[in-house]
Amino acid sequence: MKAIVLDTDDQFRVGEVAEPVPGPGEVAIRVAYAGVQYGDVLVRAGHFPIPRPFVPGFEAAGQIVAVGAGVDQARIGEQVAGLIGGGGFGEIVIAPAILAIGAAQVDPRTAAGFGWVTPTAYDLINTIARVRPGDTVLIHAAAGGVGSMAGQFAAVAGAERIVGVVGNADQVDYARRFGYHEVLVREDFPDAVGDETFDAILDPIGGRTRLASLARLAAHGRIVVYGNIATFEPVTVSTNDLLMQGQSLMTYNSNLASQTHPKRLADSAARAMALVADGSVRIDITAEYDLSDVETAIASLAGGATRGRSIVRVG
Ligand SMILES: NC(=O)c1ccc[n+]([C@@H]2O[C@H](COP(=O)([O-])OP(=O)(O)OC[C@H]3O[C@@H](n4cnc5c(N)ncnc54)[C@H](OP(=O)(O)O)[C@@H]3O)[C@@H](O)[C@H]2O)c1
Repeated sequence: MKAIVLDTDDQFRVGEVAEPVPGPGEVAIRVAYAGVQYGDVLVRAGHFPIPRPFVPGFEAAGQIVAVGAGVDQARIGEQVAGLIGGGGFGEIVIAPAILAIGAAQVDPRTAAGFGWVTPTAYDLINTIARVRPGDTVLIHAAAGGVGSMAGQFAAVAGAERIVGVVGNADQVDYARRFGYHEVLVREDFPDAVGDETFDAILDPIGGRTRLASLARLAAHGRIVVYGNIATFEPVTVSTNDLLMQGQSLMTYNSNLASQTHPKRLADSAARAMALVADGSVRIDITAEYDLSDVETAIASLAGGATRGRSIVRVG
């Protein structure tokens, strides 16, 4: 079958690979569209120890065409969004049956855009930061895949004030479509925040932004660390200082959750999918690429030139 292959020369090329077969507890999905995400950038940069050659693509939408042992045969034909550990940029991909999330109520492009970012944003807001009605929320990288969903989930959760931080003025207008009451430009953070503090802060940035964010946490506030876009440099926090203010620093790792607590992740994903299907939140597909153009898709993401979700036409 046709697939994108990432080899040791770090190039994404269209190639021919053997069609994968589902093992016990797995399904095979004929991929219509696949989502592009930051993990694709990190894989190429060598941040994950994945042997090459490797078929990248961590989120695939399509139809189940075969099931492995122990999986209900009735799932064949089901439209799903697969949360996968690679292989999405191939015509057939294998997914754990539990993480092939029913997507019959949404179109295949939206199902591809759903990806990991939508359950991640759902969990960040609802499961980890536990945003409640009346809370104030600060979300970094507000115009990105996670950020554009997190603003909407915060609004659904009843947050009273949702502030986003983005890279430039164009992104301000874009991010404001996703539940934000105010959007700041990164170079104005934290000064533009003044003395305001927040009940929940989502931080995928790291470094100085993380330290400045901690300083803006309200009493009993929760800061959730879930990425290191700007820097992997460690940030040291005093638990005694947190305790004095009743604050919590939490982290979130959806990839790990898929291995350790797949049922919990699948439940969150199903709840998030229901909110997409009923129109409570919207996945914004801003770019669509041919399979042969994956290189451009990933370079755009790596260069910070994207908004919302980019998808690749596979089938
Ligand atoms: N832990 C988990 O479970 C989990 C799950 C999914 C994603 N993630 C992580 O979450 C992060 C966001 O993922 P995504 O899919 O939303 O990515 P994305 O769509 O590429 O968005 C990332 C955003 O980061 C901003 N950005 C780029 N460089 C930056 C910098 N140096 N400083 C501050 N902001 C910068 C850009 O915003 P502007 O254009 O406004 O500058 C961009 O919109 C990534 O680090 C990813 O690895 C973690």
